[in-house]
Amino acid sequence: MKKKLFELRKSYDKLSIDFEKLPSHPMDLFKIWFDEVSSHEGVDEVNAFTLSTINSIGDLRSRVVLLKKIVNESFIFFTNYESEKAQSIFHNPKVCMSFYWPNLERQIIINGKAIKSSKKISDEYFKSRPRGSQLGAHVSPQSKEIPSKNFLIQRLKKIEKKYKGVEIPRPTNWGGIKITPDSYEFWQGRPNRLHDRVKFFKVQSNWEYVKLAP
Ligand SMILES: Cc1cc2nc3c(=O)[nH]c(=O)nc-3n(C[C@H](O)[C@H](O)[C@H](O)COP(=O)(O)O)c2cc1C
Repeated sequence: MKKKLFELRKSYDKLSIDFEKLPSHPMDLFKIWFDEVSSHEGVDEVNAFTLSTINSIGDLRSRVVLLKKIVNESFIFFTNYESEKAQSIFHNPKVCMSFYWPNLERQIIINGKAIKSSKKISDEYFKSRPRGSQLGAHVSPQSKEIPSKNFLIQRLKKIEKKYKGVEIPRPTNWGGIKITPDSYEFWQGRPNRLHDRVKFFKVQSNWEYVKLAP
């Protein structure tokens, strides 16, 4: 490595959280932050988040996926239902989503429970995807061991031939996962490492919040 890790240093000073003006629902604050981050330059794939899951033997795994839809109070991403992440979720629905947006020095961590989204949502989204991505969903046995790259290329050729000139159906093992939050934590970088943090949690059907030390 060329850079000395201990010399990598950044001061956070762009914005702050106004605790007097917090919306009562954390989803509203999520949407405000998302809009601000995406209309500001410097973040690629603003909808990318780190998803952590727990598998059947209690091992954790995190990976990046893309937020593709918000329905009422839930977040939806799409994946292969036989993948490691989906199988973990079907065994243990507890998940953690984490967004980091360096352009505005913001992080949001959401804990919640995940389930399959409706077939309607999966079908609608699958139809909206480019044909290449639709084919890819049929081709890839996500998270399974494969013998070679050529294995995928050969499968792609077969699937292309099968669906030539016709609409590609959604594979039954591919679709949406819907995450309903139990808590949200918003983090805004501040000078001297005295960052602003606010955590929303549900008390019966109402959202309440506390400020947290950085
Ligand atoms: C920027 C980015 C976006 C991604 N989006 C998705 C996604 O929306 N759905 C998905 O299944 N995998 C997505 N992936 C791939 C996952 O990170 C992961 O490699 C794959 O889903 C297999 O994960 P698993 O074996 O833990 O289930 C994305 C990766 C990156 C880097």
